[in-house]
Amino acid sequence: MNVIVFASRKGGSGKSTLAAHLAAQVHKSTKPCLLIDADPQGSLTLWHKLRGTNEPPLKIANRSVTEMVAAAKRDGFEWVFIDTPPNTSAVVDDAIKNATMVIIPARPGVFDVDAVQATIQSCRSARKPYAVVINGAPARRDDSESRIVTIAREALAKFKAPVWSGQITNRADLLLALGNGEGAREYQAEGRAASEIGKLWAAIERSIKAIRGNGSATGAMHKQAA
Ligand SMILES: Nc1ncnc2c1ncn2[C@@H]1O[C@H](COP(=O)(O)OP(=O)(O)OP(=O)(O)O)[C@@H](O)[C@H]1O
Ligand SMILES: [Mg+2]
Repeated sequence: MNVIVFASRKGGSGKSTLAAHLAAQVHKSTKPCLLIDADPQGSLTLWHKLRGTNEPPLKIANRSVTEMVAAAKRDGFEWVFIDTPPNTSAVVDDAIKNATMVIIPARPGVFDVDAVQATIQSCRSARKPYAVVINGAPARRDDSESRIVTIAREALAKFKAPVWSGQITNRADLLLALGNGEGAREYQAEGRAASEIGKLWAAIERSIKAIRGNGSATGAMHKQAA
């Protein structure tokens, strides 16, 4: 079982958005994904209610995340995705402690990039693999990324933070899908939003394989925190 934790001290960076879209993409009856909503704001829980199918199943973290992850393992889940609140708190530390890999979404702004440092520090302290994902970015033009994304990458490189080479663009489709309780692929399978979410998932899977020792680190986006 693999546990993906979505964490960032910065509010609105895209933790719940990425958790929902990726979960809708990944969950299968043969390889089920459990969502754990560890944020009292309940964004993921709201999306799950709008979805109305209980697929993937969701649990609200009303006891220790460690206990819930142990129960998910007993129940045979392949994946556990944990959405966390925008702070550094005991529940975030508990989630990171249980992570196979931590995804740190960051918008490409100077305040946003600066704020990832606290979450990176938490991953390093817990010795957990992590990667930053640039989210809410301006669309690429003529196949080159926006200047603000390049600047964000340069700033993140100074923290020696591993960053996914792709981006999740700011797209209305991602919001519209969430409002329907859907993931990007369910909303519009051939759309650009679905394509980016698919690429992000492929990168996460490559990292998980490398972390598990089942694949080469080539193309993996995470860094093993030391
Ligand atoms: N790539 C995107 N394109 C369009 N809208 C986005 C994108 N990413 C996030 N949003 C929207 O921005 C808002 C904040 O995103 P989200 O709630 O996922 O962030 P969060 O990190 O979970 O916030 P919090 O820290 O408050 O839990 C939401 O309305 C969300 O739907
Ligand atoms: Mg959230």
